[in-house]
Amino acid sequence: MKILVVGGGGREHAIIRALKKSPACTEIWCAPGNGGIGCDAVCKDIKATDVAAMVAFAKEEGFDYAVVAQDDPLALGMVDALADAGIPAFGPNAAAARIEASKVFSKDLMKKYGIPTAKYETFDDPRAAMAYIRAEGKYPVVVKADGLALGKGVLICQSESEAEAGIKEIMLDKKFGASGNRVVVEEFLTGPEVSVLSFCDGKTVVPMVSSMDHKRALDGDKGLNTGGMGTVAPNPYYTPEIAETCMRTIFAPTVAAMQAEGCPFKGCLYFGLMLTPDGPKVIEYNCRFGDPEAQVVLPLLQSDLLTIMQATTDGTLDKTEVKFADGAAACVILASGGYPLAYEKGKKITGLTDGQLEGAEDVTVYHAGTARKGEALVTAGGRVLGVTATAPTLPQALEKAYAAARRIGFEGAHMRTDIGKRALAALGQ
Ligand code: AMP
Ligand code: GLY
Repeated sequence: MKILVVGGGGREHAIIRALKKSPACTEIWCAPGNGGIGCDAVCKDIKATDVAAMVAFAKEEGFDYAVVAQDDPLALGMVDALADAGIPAFGPNAAAARIEASKVFSKDLMKKYGIPTAKYETFDDPRAAMAYIRAEGKYPVVVKADGLALGKGVLICQSESEAEAGIKEIMLDKKFGASGNRVVVEEFLTGPEVSVLSFCDGKTVVPMVSSMDHKRALDGDKGLNTGGMGTVAPNPYYTPEIAETCMRTIFAPTVAAMQAEGCPFKGCLYFGLMLTPDGPKVIEYNCRFGDPEAQVVLPLLQSDLLTIMQATTDGTLDKTEVKFADGAAACVILASGGYPLAYEKGKKITGLTDGQLEGAEDVTVYHAGTARKGEALVTAGGRVLGVTATAPTLPQALEKAYAAARRIGFEGAHMRTDIGKRALAALGQ
């Protein structure tokens, strides 16, 4: 089979490396891809959001299957357009992608179907939003832009004046564009966060191994929010009892709710959960693999990813094996100095041969923001590389991932040094 993966980050690289293990996968392309992905797939420079150009290219090249990995092309209906062109694709259609693309949609869905989440109200008028915040008088309060905002549309406001500034930023200054036409104002929850990615075929949901992201830029969960500076899997807070509760109160009801609303979800549904004192609650849904969650979850997948993906498209997930290894995985992100604010690009990356580390067993380097410059690989994004190691235990995986990451260098490189620390504490180590 000739396969096209749409996107160009570490997550797409992880998907490609997993798909390549499938005996049925004979040819793999990535659009737009990046310098390091080019070592594993043929890259084609088409913007992931250019639906018309992508579909035309997919038809021209005669792909048998496509994987749309990124949120914005999903929200723009790329899976619908590919299907219309006769190319089956992994991922939700535009109607189902609303579960991520509109927080108002997802919150209203949870309210209607009794799925546990933070208490909230939605507003399209900034004055009404502020009146509600004042009347509630509880801080911190969480203000979220309705639409996609590159993961930056969530503000945790410690006071009335911070909330006022946040509402102004989102709704009046339109910092996130039309995403801020409406806001969700919700109660602040506390507890450990767990990411659970799942395969869905519209009716069946199969959770993958759990994981833990590290969203803040600096050690000790300090600094600005990023796309994620590292991940571990499994997440030790996510016990079998909690998993059972989540299946009963969150996963199965969500998939049934989407079906009942006439937009069954097919693809990877990401449950961002908080384990609150009142039980697990949904913080957010994503309509795709997490990045860098995919970089720890997929290396632990033992079953054939292509077969599973096709089963989500065909509606046969209940008859498909989805098995994960017992061990652990850890991913450490090497970022450009300054990320998530302004950073320089074009720095030469040292330590890699054909994009990978030589002689590092059970280690994979996933390329997030790299480009080719002649023979050399250079930095080309905020998150540059994700260094993943697998091992029988989490401490071993972390040690291997850090040892590997330290062998790679570029000017200004920054990584957190405490990925997995909280997970180890939860394990009593
Ligand atoms: P999101 O972009 O929706 O993933 O939100 C970013 C981060 O904000 C989450 O990972 C949480 O750490 C935090 N967050 C979002 N909503 C809440 C909430 N209701 N209570 C506490 N923290 C939240
Ligand atoms: N790592 C969080 C996300 O992909 O949204």
